[in-house]
Amino acid sequence: MGDKITVPHILKMKQRGERITCLTAYDYSFARILDEAGVEMLLVGDSLGCVIQGGANTLAVTMDEMIYHTRLVAHGCKRALVIGDMPFMSYQTGTADALRNAGRFFKEAGAAAIKLEGGVAVQESIRAIVAAGMPVMGHIGLTPQSVHQFGGYKIQGREKNRREAVLRDATAVESAGAFAVVLEGIPQDLAGEITERLTIPTIGIGAGVECDGQVLVIHDMLGLFDDFVPKFVKRYADVKQTMLGAVKEFMVEVKERKFPAEEHSFK
Ligand code: KIV
Repeated sequence: MGDKITVPHILKMKQRGERITCLTAYDYSFARILDEAGVEMLLVGDSLGCVIQGGANTLAVTMDEMIYHTRLVAHGCKRALVIGDMPFMSYQTGTADALRNAGRFFKEAGAAAIKLEGGVAVQESIRAIVAAGMPVMGHIGLTPQSVHQFGGYKIQGREKNRREAVLRDATAVESAGAFAVVLEGIPQDLAGEITERLTIPTIGIGAGVECDGQVLVIHDMLGLFDDFVPKFVKRYADVKQTMLGAVKEFMVEVKERKFPAEEHSFK
């Protein structure tokens, strides 16, 4: 399968024009499968607030919960780069908190990088975390932790002034030292412009095909989560239907006394 994926490896992929794949993971078993498939980056996203915890948004997720899930993923992962997602209010309160909380992902959870949302507003925190030796992935555009400020999950950067703001965020994240940046929920031509301007890889979600890589929430792309399905999600499988079929078959076999059979029983 090859050597462990590192931050320099991800940067080289952009230089070589190789597309980068990233999926979210929240536990050991999923991490093992995605790692075996060869996905380059596993993001332990605070999206777990929705797909694991059933919340309406990501705001309630805590540092301790992120550390717990990141540790499970790092344990299941031999090759992919494991990225821990900084939850709401773990870095917005200032550089000292950002530094301390970023450090927990490395010391307690085995992460190889962290991600945080924002551009110009968080550039000092990114700079401090990178200066302490911890790789940072930025996240700009439709940043879900700002859902209340946006008034919903709305595409960002459509109007001229908002487009310029997203471009400024992209430049701020790169110059602060981030090794990559997630572009979420922005027009594809804006994502293309950012991808061309930056030397670090752009990882898109709802940002079109011009990005250097793509990320999806694993529960969305496998069809495991259907509380809401954004337009940018492609369903690569219908695992919910497969699960329903298996569970129903189990129930029928138990009720009809067909399971367990001889081969599942002991003498
Ligand atoms: O929390 C998350 O899973 C994310 C990705 C969707 C980029 O931030």
